[in-house]
Amino acid sequence: MSKLFSPLKIKDLTLKNRIVMSPMCQYSAIDGFANDWHYVHYVSRAVGGSAVVIQEATAVVPEGRISYADLGIWKDEHIDEFKKITTSIEKYSAIPGIQLAHAGRKSSCDLANNGGAQIKEGPHAWETVAPSAIPFLPTDIPPTALYEDGIKEVAKAFKEATIRSIKAGYKVIEIHAAHGYLIHEFFSPLTNTRTDNYGGSFENRVRILFDIIDEILPLMTDDLSLWVRISATDWVEGGWDLPQSIELSKLLKEKGVDVIDVSTGGLVSDAKIPVGKNYQVPFADGIKQASGLITGAVGLFTEAPHMEELLETEKCDLIFIGRKLLKDPYFPINAARELGDTDITPDQYGRRH
Ligand code: FNR
Repeated sequence: MSKLFSPLKIKDLTLKNRIVMSPMCQYSAIDGFANDWHYVHYVSRAVGGSAVVIQEATAVVPEGRISYADLGIWKDEHIDEFKKITTSIEKYSAIPGIQLAHAGRKSSCDLANNGGAQIKEGPHAWETVAPSAIPFLPTDIPPTALYEDGIKEVAKAFKEATIRSIKAGYKVIEIHAAHGYLIHEFFSPLTNTRTDNYGGSFENRVRILFDIIDEILPLMTDDLSLWVRISATDWVEGGWDLPQSIELSKLLKEKGVDVIDVSTGGLVSDAKIPVGKNYQVPFADGIKQASGLITGAVGLFTEAPHMEELLETEKCDLIFIGRKLLKDPYFPINAARELGDTDITPDQYGRRH
């Protein structure tokens, strides 16, 4: 059996293989509600053989959305539509996950297909918040710096969102602490110039994440799993970097987080990122070796033998796949065939290949 198709047990959850659908915004919601698009999109990836399907960044408060068309889970009314999705993902033998998010200073933006610029006025605009009043682009309206009370409210919103996520049937809760959104903005000295308990030292800059985890962890029974996505570097001198990510990962492991999902970048607009094959892998590798956490790598993975090699050489434990799964929801079925593993084609399609 290949490594890619070997199971992984995390507490009482068994991932049937190492392929995780990476969270990807669909910009297709109204008032945060999921609809037919989300249902078909996510359930197709379960039918396609991914072990875990992680739903796109789903906002814990309305002002935490990147755009007005993001999914949200800030009210109980959102639960029913999500429940339909999770029920079918499980029916087709995958584990439903949700990425809980607050976009911080990168909220109130237009849809990615429209360029994603900040919307400054009108029904799709709102006031943004961040650790410090520093805009993403000089031309953006600066965010309002959160008071400590506001930070506590954010942590509570993550808790309420987790309670709703569990009611909706998600088994993996992933906290979005990457890509320059609110939590990452606290981590990085480039966006956090606070002088209170939430700025300055490393311990202070990561405090918001631990406030959130303290709210969520008591809810996580053994059939549920808590994951965190980080950007392991800002790709900018003086910003958040791999040594700090390693330090954070060790603390997360100690705290009881199950998986670290290692991405990079997104904090500032002018970072020079050497995008190419394996460009994010050394970060996952460094974190895995130093922290002992179950580690996911992501970025430009399209070929099964390449994924297999990353697992064989123990650079990571999980392979997160984004755009390849947008183009080919059935990629895992084809990958199993290519690697000579047991055929995982659904019975319904079995006579047709
Ligand atoms: C993304 N990505 C992303 N990441 C995240 O943490 N939350 C999100 O909601 C999104 N949204 C999103 C939308 C779209 C359309 C794309 C293409 C990407 C990043 C994604 O999860 C992944 O990390 C990157 O795309 C790199 O992996 P691939 O696509 O090269 O496999």
